[in-house]
Amino acid sequence: MMSRDVAWLSCLQLLCGMSSLWAYPFRPPLDLDITPRTTVLSNGLWGCRRFSGTALNYSTLLLEEEAGVLYVGARGALYALQADNISNFSRTIDWEAPEDQKQLCLNKGKDNKTECFNHIRFLQRFNSTHLYTCGTHAFSPLCAYIDDKDFRISSVFEEGRERCPYDPAKGYTGLLIDGQIYTASQYEFWSSPDIRRNSPNPTLRTEEAPTRWLYEADFVGSALVRETVNSSVGDDDKIYFFFTEKSQEHSPYFSHSRVARVGRVCKSDRGGLLTLQKKWTSFLKARLVCSLPDYEFHFNVLRSVFVLEGLRTQDTVLYGIFGLEWKNVKASAICRYSMTDIQQAFDGPYMESQEDTSAKWTEYSGKVPEPRPGSCITDRLRARGINFSTDLPDDVLHFVRRHPLMAKQILPVGGRPLLFRRSVDYSKIAVHRVTALDGQTYHMLFIGTDEGWLQRAVEVKSQLHIIEELQLFEGPQPVDSIVISQKQMSVYVGSQSAVVQLPLSTCHRYSSCFDCVLARDPFCAWDGEECVEITSHTDRSNLTQDILNGNEGCENSAADDLVLHRVRSVMAGDDVLLQCELSSNLATPQWTLHGQELQGYGLNSGYRIGTDGLLVIEARPDQSGDYSCFALESGVRVPVVIYTLTIRHDLPPVPPIDMTHPPHQSGTTHRTAQTSNRSNLTLHPAPAPHPPQLEFLSLRNMEAMYLSLITILGGLCLVLTVVLLYVGFCVQTRRGKYSLRAAAQAERKRSGHMELKTISSQCNGKVDTHDGLLQIVPGEAQASPNKDLPPAPPLPPPPPNSESEYTNGLSATLPSVLRKMNGNSYVLLRQSDGDTTSPLYYSFTEELNRILEKRKHTQLCNKPDESSV
Ligand SMILES: *[C@@H]1O[C@H](CO)[C@@H](O)[C@H](O)[C@H]1NC(C)=O
Ligand SMILES: *[C@@H]1O[C@H](CO)[C@@H](O)[C@H](O)[C@H]1NC(C)=O
Ligand SMILES: *[C@@H]1O[C@H](CO)[C@@H](O)[C@H](O)[C@H]1NC(C)=O
Ligand SMILES: *[C@@H]1O[C@H](CO)[C@@H](O)[C@H](O)[C@H]1NC(C)=O
Ligand SMILES: *[C@@H]1O[C@H](CO)[C@@H](O)[C@H](O)[C@H]1NC(C)=O
Ligand SMILES: *[C@@H]1O[C@H](CO)[C@@H](O)[C@H](O)[C@H]1NC(C)=O
Ligand SMILES: *[C@@H]1O[C@H](CO)[C@@H](O)[C@H](O)[C@H]1NC(C)=O
Ligand SMILES: *[C@@H]1O[C@H](CO)[C@@H](O)[C@H](O)[C@H]1NC(C)=O
Ligand SMILES: *[C@@H]1O[C@H](CO)[C@@H](O)[C@H](O)[C@H]1NC(C)=O
Ligand SMILES: *[C@@H]1O[C@H](CO)[C@@H](O)[C@H](O)[C@H]1NC(C)=O
Repeated sequence: MMSRDVAWLSCLQLLCGMSSLWAYPFRPPLDLDITPRTTVLSNGLWGCRRFSGTALNYSTLLLEEEAGVLYVGARGALYALQADNISNFSRTIDWEAPEDQKQLCLNKGKDNKTECFNHIRFLQRFNSTHLYTCGTHAFSPLCAYIDDKDFRISSVFEEGRERCPYDPAKGYTGLLIDGQIYTASQYEFWSSPDIRRNSPNPTLRTEEAPTRWLYEADFVGSALVRETVNSSVGDDDKIYFFFTEKSQEHSPYFSHSRVARVGRVCKSDRGGLLTLQKKWTSFLKARLVCSLPDYEFHFNVLRSVFVLEGLRTQDTVLYGIFGLEWKNVKASAICRYSMTDIQQAFDGPYMESQEDTSAKWTEYSGKVPEPRPGSCITDRLRARGINFSTDLPDDVLHFVRRHPLMAKQILPVGGRPLLFRRSVDYSKIAVHRVTALDGQTYHMLFIGTDEGWLQRAVEVKSQLHIIEELQLFEGPQPVDSIVISQKQMSVYVGSQSAVVQLPLSTCHRYSSCFDCVLARDPFCAWDGEECVEITSHTDRSNLTQDILNGNEGCENSAADDLVLHRVRSVMAGDDVLLQCELSSNLATPQWTLHGQELQGYGLNSGYRIGTDGLLVIEARPDQSGDYSCFALESGVRVPVVIYTLTIRHDLPPVPPIDMTHPPHQSGTTHRTAQTSNRSNLTLHPAPAPHPPQLEFLSLRNMEAMYLSLITILGGLCLVLTVVLLYVGFCVQTRRGKYSLRAAAQAERKRSGHMELKTISSQCNGKVDTHDGLLQIVPGEAQASPNKDLPPAPPLPPPPPNSESEYTNGLSATLPSVLRKMNGNSYVLLRQSDGDTTSPLYYSFTEELNRILEKRKHTQLCNKPDESSV
C-alpha cells in the first residue's frame, strides 16, 4: 500500500506540480533547509586576497599562527605564504616528478593531465626546525623533510609508499604527533584500506583480512584528542579517524550499502606480543548517524569533519558534512556530535558477526573478557602489572580482533542535523568560536561547496543561521580546504586554481542598523552610525547586536532617513513597475498604499508583487497615491522605498524621454539605500502604438488555456499512475529501495525541468507570449494573503557560470535574484532565441522593463524625481 501511495504522490507532485517542495515523498522539515541571508558574487568580495603560483591544486594547507606563515602544498610545488597577506611575497619549493617517472605513471594507465604529477598530500610540522611532507610523485609516493628557515628540502627523499596514497584523489588523512606519523588511506589500488603508524618503530597497522576492521573505507579526517591531560585515571591520548565504509551490520534499511564511521586508536598502543603482533590492539569503530528523524532519510557518506577542541574533552565537539550515496543527487547535511557521546559508544556493548555469515552483525551479549578489549592502558591496568599493550592477555586480543564494531550508534546532538540543504554539495567545513556582545560564545561555521562558494553560518540554540554566501571563484571548483586564523582574523580557502584569504567578517557591508542586526553576525554590531567589528571597540556599551533573534535594538534608529522617495507619473492603462529590491534573501516584500497594506495580489487586483518590485497592471487613476515598500524579516518591518504615483488620463505635453537602462547590479546583491541613485532609471517611455489587443492575454483565453493544460496533465497523471501502480506491486517487497530511488529520480526530473514545475505550480497565472521576448508567469501561490503559511523553499542556489546538468540551458542564465523567487514572485521562464542583446539577466527588473518598454507608451513626467536620503 505504501508504495502505491508514494507512487501517487510522486506522480502528482511531479506532473501537477501541486507543491513547490521537493518531490521527495518524505518532505524534509522546512526549518532545516536554510537559505543564506545574502549572496555575494566574486566581484563583490571585500578584503579578498588571492595567491596562485604556477602550480594547480592548492589542496594542502598548514597554518602556523605564531610564525604568521601559511604553508601550501600544491601540485608539484610547495609555498610559504605570509599569513597577513598571502598575495605578498612568497617562497617556493618546486618539487615535480621527473619525466621518466611520469612516463611510468602514464604506462600504468594513469591520466597524464591530472594524475601523473607530484600532488602534495601531507605537510605538517616535524620538529622546531623542520616540516615533513609527502607527495604522490606520479604514482610513486615520496616524502621529505623541509628546513623551514631556508624553505628547501633538507634531506634525501624517503620512500612514501606506507604514508601517502598513490592516487591524488584517494581519501586520505594524516597526523604527525610527537614525531610519529599516523596516516589512513587505501594507499594503493589493490591494497586494502589501512590505518598506520609508520614512524618510528614500532609500526602498527590494521588487520587486512577479513573485512571486519575496515571495509572499503574512504577516509576524510582524523584528530588527536589529548585525554591524558588532567586525567584522573591516567588515560591515554586517542586518535580518531573519520571515514565512510561498506556497511556490515544488519540494518533495517535496505538502501545502505555505506555508513559513516568514527574509529579510534590509543596513542601508546604497541601492538600485541603474539596475537595482533604489529597490529592495533585498541582499534574500535562506531557508526555516525546523520538522519532526518521521521523521514527515514539517511546521509551515509561523510565528506568532511572538523573537530572543535574544548578546554576539556567533554567540551570537544565534532562537526561533520554528510552527503547522499547517489552521486547524481545533490544534497548535504551537517551534524554535530559531542565527544562524550562518542566516548560512551566506545565504552558500550560490542557487535558480533558469526564466522559463517560474516555479513550479519548483531549485538554481542556474551561475556566480555577483562581488561576491557580495545581500551587504553590506564592506571588501573598498570596497577595490575599491564604497562603496555604487549602485556595484554591473549583472550582480550582475540576478542578485540573479532569485535571492532560497537553496537551503540552515535546520534547527533539534538537527534537531527543542524542543517539539511538540497541542491548543494558541501565539501569542507571549519568552525570557529566567537564571543558576541552578549558574552555568549557562538560557533561560527565556514562551509565550502563543490562549486567554490563559502558560506558563513552561526549556530544559535542548535539552529543554523547562514549569514551570507560568498562566491570565491568565477569558475566553479570544489573548496578543498579551509583554515581559520584567529590572529589574522582571516579564513584561508584552498582550491584547484588558487588560495583565497578573506576577513572573518565584513561588517561595513551592512549599511543600516536593521541590516547590521538582522545579519546576526557575532562579529558585527551597530554603533549608532555604522556597522562595526566588535573587536575594534573596547567600549562596547554603545553597540547594538542581537544574535539570538536578530531583530532587536534598532527601534530608535532613524531608519526613515534612509528611505528613498521617488515620484512616478504615468498614463492610465499602462503597466508600471515600482522597483524595490531587497538585499536579504530572507526578507519578503510588503507594499502599502496610503498606509494600507495592498490586499489580494490576485489576478483581478491589478497588482503583482515580485522580488524586486510592484507591478501595477493597466493602471487606473484611482490607483494613484503613495506606495511604500517594506522588507519583512524576522518580524521586523523595514521601510525601503516610497513612491508617489500619479496616474493621469492626458498625455503630457513634453516628448518622451530617451530610454535608459538600469546598470547591471554588480558584485553583490546587497544594495545600500544611501548609495543607490537610480531615480531616473526605472521606467522608460517608448511610444509604441500597439493596438489594445496586444495587451496581456484576456482572462478568458487564460482560463481556456489552463483548463486544457490541467486536462492534459490530469490525463498524463492517470496514465502514469496506472503504470506506477503496476510497478509498485512488482517491487513491493523492496519498498525501501524503490521509494528512495523514485525520490532520486524525481529530484533529477525536477531540476531538469524547472520550467514545467513553475508553470504548473502557478495554476492560475497569466502566460504572456505574444511579444516573443520571454514568458512571465505571475505567481499566484500566495494569492490569498495567508501569512500563516511558511514561505515556500527557495529554488536552488545560483550556479553562475556553472556547467550544470540542466538540459534547457536555463541554469546558465539564472540570475541570482531567482533564488528568492518564492511563490509570490515573478518567474523568468524562457528567453526567446532571437534575443541576443542581453544574454545574462542579472536583474529581473531589467527584463520587465524591457517588456514594458516594447509594449507600452508610458511617459515619464518631466518633473525630476525627488530622492531623499
Ligand atoms: C597584499 O599584498 C599585495 C602584494 O604585495 C598588495 O598589492 C596588496 O595591496 C596587499 N593587500 C593588503 C590588504 O595588504
Ligand atoms: C610584503 O613582504 C615584504 C617582505 O616580507 C614586506 O617588507 C612588506 O611590508 C610586505 N608588504 C605587505 C603589504 O605586507
Ligand atoms: C599525455 O600522453 C599523451 C600520449 O599518451 C601525449 O600525447 C600528451 O602530450 C601527454 N600530455 C601531457 C600533458 O603530458
Ligand atoms: C628536526 O628533524 C630533522 C630531520 O630529522 C633534523 O635534521 C633536525 O636536527 C631536527 N631538529 C631539531 C631541533 O631537533
Ligand atoms: C587538480 O586540478 C584539476 C583542474 O584544475 C582537476 O581536474 C583535478 O581533478 C584536480 N586534482 C585533484 C586531485 O584535486
Ligand atoms: C589541568 O589542571 C590544572 C590544575 O588543576 C588546570 O590549571 C588546567 O587548566 C587543567 N587543564 C585542563 C586542560 O583542563
Ligand atoms: C610495569 O611498570 C612498573 C613500574 O614502572 C614495574 O615495576 C613493573 O615491573 C612493570 N610490569 C611489567 C609487567 O613490566
Ligand atoms: C554613544 O553614541 C552616541 C551617539 O552616537 C554618542 O553621542 C555617545 O558619545 C556614545 N557613547 C559612548 C560611550 O561611546
Ligand atoms: C542623486 O542624484 C541627485 C540628482 O538627481 C543628486 O543631487 C544626489 O547627490 C545624488 N545622490 C547620490 C547619493 O548620488
Ligand atoms: C533625472 O532626470 C532629470 C531630468 O531628466 C535630471 O535633471 C536629473 O539630473 C536626473 N537625475 C539623475 C540622478 O540622473
